[in-house]
Amino acid sequence: IEVFRKDYQPLPYKVDTIELDIQLEPRKTTITTQMTITSSSQTMTLDGDRDVIQLQQVELNGVLLKEGTDYQVTASALTLFQLPLHTPFQLTTRVTTIPEDNTELSGLYQDSSGMYCTQMEAMGFRRFTYMADRPDQMATFARVRIEADAHQYPILLSNGNLVEQGSCENNTNRHYAIWQDPFPKPTYLFAMVAGNLGVLQDSYTTKSGRHVDLQIFAEPHQTHLLQYAMQSLKRAMQWDEDRYGLEYDLDLYNIVAVDSFNMGAMENKGLNVFNTAYVLADPATATDTDFERVESVIGHEYFHNWTGNRVTCRDWFQLTLKEGLTVFRDQEFSADMNSAAVNRIENVRALRGRQFAEDAGPMAHPIRPESYISMDNFYTATVYSKGAEVIRMYQTILGVEGFNQGLKLYLERHDGQAVTCDDFLQAMADANQDIDLTLFRRWYSTPGTPVVKYRGEWNENGTYQLHLEQETSDGDPLHIPVSVGLLDHATGKEVVSTQVLNLKESQQTFTFSDLAGPVVPSILRTFSAPVKLVPLEKDNESSVLAFLAAHDTDGFNRWEAVQRLYTSLIFHHLPSKEESSSTWNYVEQAFARTLDTCLDNSDYSISAYVLTLPSESTLAEEMDVIDPIGLHQARSTVKQQLARRFQSVLMEKYSALTELLSQTKELKFDATSIGLRRLRNVLLDYLCSLKDTPEECDQAAQWAMNHYQAATGMTDQMAGLSALVSIDNPFRQDALDQFYQQAVGNSLVLNKWFTVQALASTPTSLETIQKLYQHPDFTLKNPNRVRALVGAFTMNAVAFHQPAGYQFLGDVLLEVDALNPQLSSRLASPLLPWRKYVSGPLMKEQLERLLAQPKLSDDLYEIVSRGLKE
Ligand code: ARG
Ligand code: ZN
Repeated sequence: IEVFRKDYQPLPYKVDTIELDIQLEPRKTTITTQMTITSSSQTMTLDGDRDVIQLQQVELNGVLLKEGTDYQVTASALTLFQLPLHTPFQLTTRVTTIPEDNTELSGLYQDSSGMYCTQMEAMGFRRFTYMADRPDQMATFARVRIEADAHQYPILLSNGNLVEQGSCENNTNRHYAIWQDPFPKPTYLFAMVAGNLGVLQDSYTTKSGRHVDLQIFAEPHQTHLLQYAMQSLKRAMQWDEDRYGLEYDLDLYNIVAVDSFNMGAMENKGLNVFNTAYVLADPATATDTDFERVESVIGHEYFHNWTGNRVTCRDWFQLTLKEGLTVFRDQEFSADMNSAAVNRIENVRALRGRQFAEDAGPMAHPIRPESYISMDNFYTATVYSKGAEVIRMYQTILGVEGFNQGLKLYLERHDGQAVTCDDFLQAMADANQDIDLTLFRRWYSTPGTPVVKYRGEWNENGTYQLHLEQETSDGDPLHIPVSVGLLDHATGKEVVSTQVLNLKESQQTFTFSDLAGPVVPSILRTFSAPVKLVPLEKDNESSVLAFLAAHDTDGFNRWEAVQRLYTSLIFHHLPSKEESSSTWNYVEQAFARTLDTCLDNSDYSISAYVLTLPSESTLAEEMDVIDPIGLHQARSTVKQQLARRFQSVLMEKYSALTELLSQTKELKFDATSIGLRRLRNVLLDYLCSLKDTPEECDQAAQWAMNHYQAATGMTDQMAGLSALVSIDNPFRQDALDQFYQQAVGNSLVLNKWFTVQALASTPTSLETIQKLYQHPDFTLKNPNRVRALVGAFTMNAVAFHQPAGYQFLGDVLLEVDALNPQLSSRLASPLLPWRKYVSGPLMKEQLERLLAQPKLSDDLYEIVSRGLKE
């Protein structure tokens, strides 16, 4: 059933307190729930999923109720009749469930290691016990008692504070723990864990003197991989105090790492549950990107404590209220911990690669969606990443100080409440009364990526007029902050520093005066709005881009200018397109300049990103008709041309970087060291792209193999190995076998072994992938493993975009859907934009095949039917 935002109704009752008693026994878990409720209606409905939990009994104020007359159970609810009105009563339910059979990983389930854990967001609690499972129902979890076998499950955790623990009197093989959370919370923030776990402990003292114990749990053999997460957590706690004055509010902060998890991590109050991929990291097993991700996800879940937990969402349509805001906060945290410019480039790359595509296809939705069948389908790039861009625009329009004031007011005004995106906007507006945010609200309801077009005009009287136009999905204008600076055309010097132009109309002209001579505009600096920027006049576009690439003071726009140049060069290489020598000349210049100077300053990461061609998904996003194989080849051709043209400089810089990196013995993870590795790996990628002749292949394989063997950490190992597997050469299998041996016992490293092969661009990659699908280490029960192989496969154009590739994905989706619908519906998304692909009809065939299945999950049904909708 489809649920609509406009149909929101408050509940006619309130659950004030809840007490849980959870008895974990093999294949039979019993959950007793006692609620204190006040109702303004005699009839009341609680959510519960009959396929997963079996209702044993219901008591009202201690009196056993009768099914049929006093209550009724349907597939998704428990309805009670003739309840006392306006006076608190106690309702007690008992259910049984088998978490061992819960393959959906929603509700209470068992991890592959055997520990019990929970994931309640968005609607998992109804798979655990009967309750009003919606975020505006906040109850105090006054007592949570967990009982389990003491030897198998020595660690018993839930939210808040531990109030009591001990062994059971009647059976000393069993023990229990009692937890209490002083903060009222919705069901989605409840969590419990029972397992045999190791722990890393530390502590943090807040600025007002609260001593907080920090504990991160993982399987005992993994505890040495928790150091970086702990450091990141302490940095996040400090940062939120420094930047926003926000402190932690309990004496205990627990994190548990679980191997089987559908998403990244979960911000349960005082008990975060993390996908191991976002918490475990050490130099031998994690890449630089893995480290960056651990830091940002640890930060993200911690920041939710204020933006999400203390102030939560009224209904799930408001998800971006907490997610967009918290992603923005984690981005700012990462920017402050590392390099702001590098971070911005990485985030915009991700936005363009995923969110723009989503917004252009059948799953397009505003950051605050209007309807859903399965809410889990709306934990999207749009809600998260575009949502974060919307928050960033507030900051751009209001200024950092104005934004901080608005956030402060929002949190003070709504502490302890479940609110809406409108409440957020209102707080921002009330704290900044001089600025009109009326039009800004439309960002919450407008899907699609707006296009901003521009044209400039220089007048001899010393004025420059910048004409801006906007196109939106509904034709009405949005409030778009456009950051602009002006550079002198003759000298390249900046003559007007960055200012924010508030574009609010369909067409608007902005005038700059008192200029000494003609200027070149640098528009949308730091990517000040999630839009596509297009010149109205394309005459000398490439020369303007080359000028900006050389002179812009804005690091982001310098990078962007080169990306635009690459894009146009790659598009010239598409089948049926002609080569343009002038674009090549500009690219050559920009590439040469970046390469020549890449060791002169410490912005190694920026240089690395400037030298990197736009991804196939970013490029595809700019095409009306996508020929993925042609695109892949065009991009490879440009890469090879650059590699051939600059081979000697690439080699020279590569060696210089090798030299620089070898000067420090131990592996470091500061921005400079990461930048050095990133840059060197980009150069390697160019060098290894030359493989037209057997001699070239030998040479490339030699480079890749040397790089792999000399690697001192996972980043370089992976760079070497992924170059190697795409080259036809004799070392290939040996290196893969060696890497496999290294991965034994470490699930995350094993995932990399699957991924590196799934991404390899070779004529036989699909066969390899299909073989790996049958590998004894492959399992559909672990979402990370499935994404490592199948998710990577769908990003490999050569393997995926062929009839057998589509067929294979269809087969896999059917198999996965029977176990884990959240996973299958996510894996299906590469089929959605079929209308844009030259091979679209074949992609569509798979969607139709899925739709024809009688037992498709709601999640996958929603995605597939949207994909096929006219
Ligand atoms: N709130 C989590 C986060 O930090 C995401 C959990 C989503 N889980 C799900 N099954 N939809 O982003
Ligand atoms: Zn989140």
